[in-house]
Amino acid sequence: MSDFLVIGSGVAGLSFAIKAAEHGSVTVITKGKLLESNTAWAQGGISAVLPEGLRDPDDTCEKHLADTLDAGAGLCDEEAVRVIIEEGAETIDELVEWGTAFDKDHDDPERYSLGKEGGHSERRILHAKDTTGREIATSLIETAKKDRNITLLEDHYAIDLITTGKLGSVTDDRILGAYVLDTKSKEVKTMKSPRVILATGGCGKTYLYTTNPDSATGDGLAMSWRAGASVANMEFVQFHPTCFYNPAATGPEARSFLVSEAVRGEGAVLVNAEGRQFVNDHDPRGSLAPRDIVARAIDTEIKRTGATCVYLDVSPLGDTFTERFPFIHETLLAFGHNALKKPIPVVPAAHYQCGGVVTDLQGKTSIRGLYAIGEVACTGLHGANRLASNSLLEGNVMARRALAEIMRLYPPGKETPTSPAIPAWESGNAAPPDELVNIYHAWDELRRTMQDYVSIVRTDNRLRRAAYRLKNLHREVKEFYWGYTLTPDILELRNLVATASIIVDSALLRKESRGSHHTLDYPDREARFDQSTVLRRF
Ligand code: FAD
Ligand code: SIN
Repeated sequence: MSDFLVIGSGVAGLSFAIKAAEHGSVTVITKGKLLESNTAWAQGGISAVLPEGLRDPDDTCEKHLADTLDAGAGLCDEEAVRVIIEEGAETIDELVEWGTAFDKDHDDPERYSLGKEGGHSERRILHAKDTTGREIATSLIETAKKDRNITLLEDHYAIDLITTGKLGSVTDDRILGAYVLDTKSKEVKTMKSPRVILATGGCGKTYLYTTNPDSATGDGLAMSWRAGASVANMEFVQFHPTCFYNPAATGPEARSFLVSEAVRGEGAVLVNAEGRQFVNDHDPRGSLAPRDIVARAIDTEIKRTGATCVYLDVSPLGDTFTERFPFIHETLLAFGHNALKKPIPVVPAAHYQCGGVVTDLQGKTSIRGLYAIGEVACTGLHGANRLASNSLLEGNVMARRALAEIMRLYPPGKETPTSPAIPAWESGNAAPPDELVNIYHAWDELRRTMQDYVSIVRTDNRLRRAAYRLKNLHREVKEFYWGYTLTPDILELRNLVATASIIVDSALLRKESRGSHHTLDYPDREARFDQSTVLRRF
């Protein structure tokens, strides 16, 4: 039993673990390898308003707040935005202390180089070239590895949360731990802890085209849902406008390689096949408008012209492109595309889960002792559409705040009520899967359904079609789940179906268009929907 059980090894989970280790024993489990996370794939950077003298002289926390509220389209919780933004400078200090090397200014090495992205009115994005996430993730992993109070367990897949509520208590719902599949030994372990920190990231893999790595299968959201926690705003799935369009990659293994918004921040522009900057028809900020607007403009352009993609012209950057974005340039070259010679073909792809498990500003969920931080959580920072580079910031800030709250309420060593006996894990039939192909086809069907019916532009009819297909998949997944030895593929499919269903149910409830939820049936934003969509399983 650990004082703290952390599920997930991205910025949120590792930031929490490093700080919590000052107070007790910490076990971090992660379903793959430590570096497999959305965090490690982050490119553009982390937004923060630095102290005077280090920041852009025109920038203020008030401006960052205004930009975040504007992108969030009326659904952000202003207090959450203020608190998280005001802790930005502290976050940067902490990451630097843990070894993250952000790029310095060319002309003044005492200052950081600050970039810009869509929706930001000032330069405030700290970065490490175009692999900021890898730099942050690596420094956190190295710091955590050195701490003797932290046990890092790779290949440990959290299947379900264990709560007193699930064991029958109606008056006292609190966390007891999690059932975890050791994917190497195939053993299901009962990992006990009175303090569980869910930091499992998002759910990009619910869509066929996504910028996310394979780990983003909505596990934390689905686990919390099954445990009875409230979830909110899941209709707001953010599509990133510029993923490399790679016609060679089709089918379930299709991958979209992200071309960072920071490239547009430095001057690249989106054009159609005729070279026209079509985004200006939709927003005066053109290629640097907030993501939902740019993604919709591209979707409209593709549908209008029948083209398969639009193009990102990096020629305005000159040499800056290869200096500032070496990873993107090299990766595109490896895909056979030289961005210096031809504009980059791009399409939008599912990128970020703006909603999540409902928490307060201390990361507390509706289940006592269960905290959710990072992309899996819904704090109110993002509203209907996240402002670029605000999520690495949120992950670190919320880790710090959750720990402070746990230390106030249930510090390690403080008596907790006696816990009921936890039953051993109950699994289905021990037969090995003999229908692997059906499991893969179900994955494919789910991701195509979401892509076709629940993406950038929606209608009630499309959403209902998706709901119908998801119901069938849900039945099938139950058979897989109880019929076979559990594998990560089956477990992830179960979570993907649950998460996709929550996205569809939430979208059907919002009879308006706002932020990343746009429906042809209700094209306008409506004041009566100035509230979060909150769902809970009964
Ligand atoms: P993650 O970093 O995704 O970590 C989740 C962890 O949980 C992973 O280790 C995963 O394996 C583990 N996990 C999941 N399920 C289980 C389970 N069942 N059992 C055990 N472990 C589990 N944001 C920015 O602010 N700036 C950027 O520049 C930026 N660029 C991005 C570029 C790309 C390509 C992508 C995909 C995202 C980008 N984002 C960016 C978003 C940002 O990276 C993420 O929102 C953020 O890193 C999420 O951090 P996290 O710690 O919450 O989750
Ligand atoms: C990017 O680099 O474009 C991604 C930034 C983000 O998602 O915050």
